[in-house]
Amino acid sequence: MKSVLAIAHSNIALVKYWGKRVDVDPRLNLPAVGSLSMTLDGLWTQTKLQPTTGSDRFVLGGTVQTGSAAAKVWAHLDRLWAHGHGGARPACVVDSSNHFPTAAGLASSASGFAALTVAAASAFELRATPTELSRWARMGSGSAARSIFGGFVRLHRGERADGEDCYAEPISTGEPPWPLALVVVQTALGAKSVGSTEGMERSRTTAPYYGPWVETSAQDLADAEAAIQRRDLAALGAIVEHSCFKMHACMMASRPPIVYWKPPTLAVIARVGELREAGVPGYVTIDAGPHVKVLCEPDRAAAIAQACEDVPGVEAVMICQGGPAATVREIAAGGRG
Ligand code: PMV
Repeated sequence: MKSVLAIAHSNIALVKYWGKRVDVDPRLNLPAVGSLSMTLDGLWTQTKLQPTTGSDRFVLGGTVQTGSAAAKVWAHLDRLWAHGHGGARPACVVDSSNHFPTAAGLASSASGFAALTVAAASAFELRATPTELSRWARMGSGSAARSIFGGFVRLHRGERADGEDCYAEPISTGEPPWPLALVVVQTALGAKSVGSTEGMERSRTTAPYYGPWVETSAQDLADAEAAIQRRDLAALGAIVEHSCFKMHACMMASRPPIVYWKPPTLAVIARVGELREAGVPGYVTIDAGPHVKVLCEPDRAAAIAQACEDVPGVEAVMICQGGPAATVREIAAGGRG
């Protein structure tokens, strides 16, 4: 086993994933709907993976993790080791740091599992294609399948029971790529209230809107991809907002309800609407958390960021651009990389 350092960037879904297939092995973690995202330059996870003569150790942001967070990491490494090797996996030290708030709805699981996947594939010498890496990352977290790639990315739902046709692919927008910005508006501090796996299952089993949500997703994906090809921000923005609000309607219509929004979330949505009326186009999207991300042209990002910063209750604002694919490199054993 080699010592490696991987970096993966977070992504934000423009057409959302919410819900898992139940006709298949749950360990494959197959989504009920496809999704489409933008990888972000400003939010990333760095993961060092090294063999150890001691026992497994997972350090996140300098703190040793135990419990379910660590269990997910070891299950993922066991799965990847079994792809290329027999016998017991070597004991590992995983040292990870997120360059943004963990579990605050800023999709740290996406970059976290993408970084862990490319790190393990390299450290265990698995010789995987990016498509294979994407399938493997998906088993850790659905959104992580998308963070293997940079720019705009589509995750195919697939139909097969073995999940082989469920992987992400970059969407080419030509040269130079279509430059869009995403203004990340943090509206609260701390971790999200309901984890995505639990929330998705609750929506599937209790929300009356879950069926229509799943049924209408393929059209949203097709329309969004066509809008990206045409570089039509108004058309893309309309689908982005529709997908977001449809997902949150489904969350809110679950029993008990899942409400990720905080008062500043709604205030930011209103502010972005006012700006649009005033001729500054931006389009909101919100994940399983209270933060708002605003899709816009890069030359509008500063004005939108400023306006959102002035909304009472907003904690921080950050302007992101499209980010790169996940990368990995070998480091000297025990080294700092
Ligand atoms: O893959 P997970 O468990 O991080 O779930 C992602 C769910 C959403 O962020 C709400 C939507 C998405 O497509 O990223």
